[in-house]
Amino acid sequence: MRTKVAIIGAGPAGLLLGQLLHTYGIDNIILERQTADYVLGRIRAGVLEDGTVSLLDEVGAGERAHREGLVHHGVEIAFGGVRHRIDMHAATGRTLMIYGQTEVTRDLMSARAAAGLTTVYQAADVKPHDFDSDTPRVSYAKDGITHEIACDFIAGCDGFHGVSRASVPESSIRTFERVYPFGWLGILSETPPVSPELIYTNHERGFSLCTMRSTHRSRYYLQCSLDDDIGQWPDDRFWDELKRRLDPRAVEHLVTGPSIEKSIAPLRSFVAEPMRFGRMFLAGDAAHIVPPTGAKGLNLAASDVHYLSQALREFYAEKSAAGIDAYSATALARVWKAVRFSWWMTSMLHKFPDTGEFGARIQLAELDYLVSSNAAMTSLSENYVGLPF
Ligand code: APR
Ligand code: PHB
Repeated sequence: MRTKVAIIGAGPAGLLLGQLLHTYGIDNIILERQTADYVLGRIRAGVLEDGTVSLLDEVGAGERAHREGLVHHGVEIAFGGVRHRIDMHAATGRTLMIYGQTEVTRDLMSARAAAGLTTVYQAADVKPHDFDSDTPRVSYAKDGITHEIACDFIAGCDGFHGVSRASVPESSIRTFERVYPFGWLGILSETPPVSPELIYTNHERGFSLCTMRSTHRSRYYLQCSLDDDIGQWPDDRFWDELKRRLDPRAVEHLVTGPSIEKSIAPLRSFVAEPMRFGRMFLAGDAAHIVPPTGAKGLNLAASDVHYLSQALREFYAEKSAAGIDAYSATALARVWKAVRFSWWMTSMLHKFPDTGEFGARIQLAELDYLVSSNAAMTSLSENYVGLPF
């Protein structure tokens, strides 16, 4: 089998890249180790920057997001029992869309199927080969038979635990990492959101976040210990703890209900450099991970594949390698700014046991300055709505 671009991974990065390349007339195949249902079953992010929505529109997969997504003009930051609204639209003229990653993935899968493009699900033992040559290839096993795909380029969109980055010799890659001393316990419930916009709360008991998927489906997060086990958090305990961390007005409006999903995720900041190795490119979580506090993970996957698809379009249309030569530096410039912002939001809003009372006071001073300075709120807004591609 032969294709121009072999994409490893059918998450948001791989699927969006596949549709962008198709739009530009660049043939591609996606190899995904899980089933489509498994991929859709992952409950992940829910905030789309307008640049991400524009990319969905560009590939003809944005219609349902515009119909069902919620357009938000601001977020609320709470500390000391008081909520402060940050009007991001007033500061930037831009908005955010609340639309679950699951739905983005579903829409991209539908677009790919409608275009008759090949996605091999349950592709086992996927391996990139000879990406440091002009004749890269990818092998995989399916139904006990080993297959090989000859290609011009390989796109490693296989997430943090994927095979692509792991296939790069250690001497050719540098990684930068910070692991946070806590996790996020998340719950999904078929209940109306506690507030029309998101509420990020700094509390002495720990961080909490009130967000949503629609006007009837809510998502809540609590900072929890890395030692916590989901079995220790029955729904009642979750709701009781959330009420302890929310401001009085939020507690008054909170509608609790049975969880339809509950999980604990660790938080880390991670960047791999470079993001290009000969004819193999990394994109999305395969190259970087951000703590979800800044809602950047999905949106960075989108900007990566925007840069990569433009570079490949230039290669094939203009026979120029300028774009692919610049891909890593271009993508990393935006990645590192988003990594910084996500680290800053995480550092400001979470309880850090090792920084003690002094650290807690510094956080409150940062928050007090933030909500009293138009310059500070504009800076947060610029980063939250998404820096330019
Ligand atoms: N072979 C084939 N597929 C693989 C392999 C492999 N060896 N390893 C992983 N995959 C698949 C996974 O099953 C997954 O479907 O690659 C896909 C990677 O998708 P994501 O992990 O969602 O990463 P990405 O597409 O970059 O999207 C980033 O997802 O995890 C969230 O917070 C993150 O919102 C961000 C977004
Ligand atoms: C979500 O809706 O899941 C969400 C929103 C904002 C974040 C993180 C997660 O910062």
